[in-house]
Amino acid sequence: MNHTETRYLEAKRSLDERARSPRVRDRLLSALSAEPRILDVGCGTGTTVPRLLEWGIDTGTYRGVDGDAGVIEFARDVRPAELRRAGYNVTTHDRGGTVEDLSVTYETGDALATLERAEDVDLIVAQAFADLVPISELLAGIESALAPGGLAYLPITFDGATIFQPDHPGDDAVETAYHEAIDAEPGRDVHAGRHLIDACRRADGELLAMAASDWILRPSKGIYPADEAYFLECILGFVETALRDGTVAQGEDWVAARRKQLAARELTYVAHQYDLLYRAPIR
Ligand SMILES: C[S@@+](CC[C@H](N)C(=O)[O-])C[C@H]1O[C@@H](n2cnc3c(N)ncnc32)[C@H](O)[C@@H]1O
Repeated sequence: MNHTETRYLEAKRSLDERARSPRVRDRLLSALSAEPRILDVGCGTGTTVPRLLEWGIDTGTYRGVDGDAGVIEFARDVRPAELRRAGYNVTTHDRGGTVEDLSVTYETGDALATLERAEDVDLIVAQAFADLVPISELLAGIESALAPGGLAYLPITFDGATIFQPDHPGDDAVETAYHEAIDAEPGRDVHAGRHLIDACRRADGELLAMAASDWILRPSKGIYPADEAYFLECILGFVETALRDGTVAQGEDWVAARRKQLAARELTYVAHQYDLLYRAPIR
């Protein structure tokens, strides 16, 4: 099991909770059919399941797919115990189980290949995922997998603004280098949010709702909430890796200053993101 990856994903959970738009969630819940067939692509540690239950979705089927076997193993291990502790009626089997009347499976697999093979899905969830794969392939997969009138909910979709405070003279150069490094990875798009909005406009279905869902991570009275200091440490590690080629003159100083500010509980981090809700044509 990749502990680093699972701790990172679990650490962002409290941040996601604060960031997601209640308005987009309410629109989703008002449009969702009864006993929905749900497919969660890039499901990570499976945190969508407790969220669906909190929102009152406790019937139907949920299938979570992720390319990383370690996070799937973690989801199968950890989620049932968490849900039992929260008072739900849970049964388990090798690949998942049931929670109340919701049948749950977690699988290792490729998201795009899964979408290509899936059909008649009522709800596709792709949280913090759309910036990792080519937008056109993701949308084509969503369109082919959704049932007529089915929904795709894409919360926490990155849209290319990374802000750190207090100001540092290297900020602009560091942000540019960080985003260029992300864009250079195959299939990735640092402006996935805005490009998805435009792709949805050109598609046959309808963008039912959208809202900003920026991550805002800041210390309050000298304390970072939950495990968010660890999450921010990971983000600084990603930025440091992007700066490794040394093209940003102030890069080393920037990273050292940010680590010092994190240790002193003085560092604030913001990432600009959107929550999107798309509906397939009714036909
Ligand atoms: C940023 S994480 C988000 C996880 C989860 N949706 C969440 O918000 O906590 C992205 C996840 O997508 C998975 N992933 C990336 N590319 C994938 C692909 N092509 N197929 C399946 N999973 C993929 C990664 O393993 C990772 O768990």
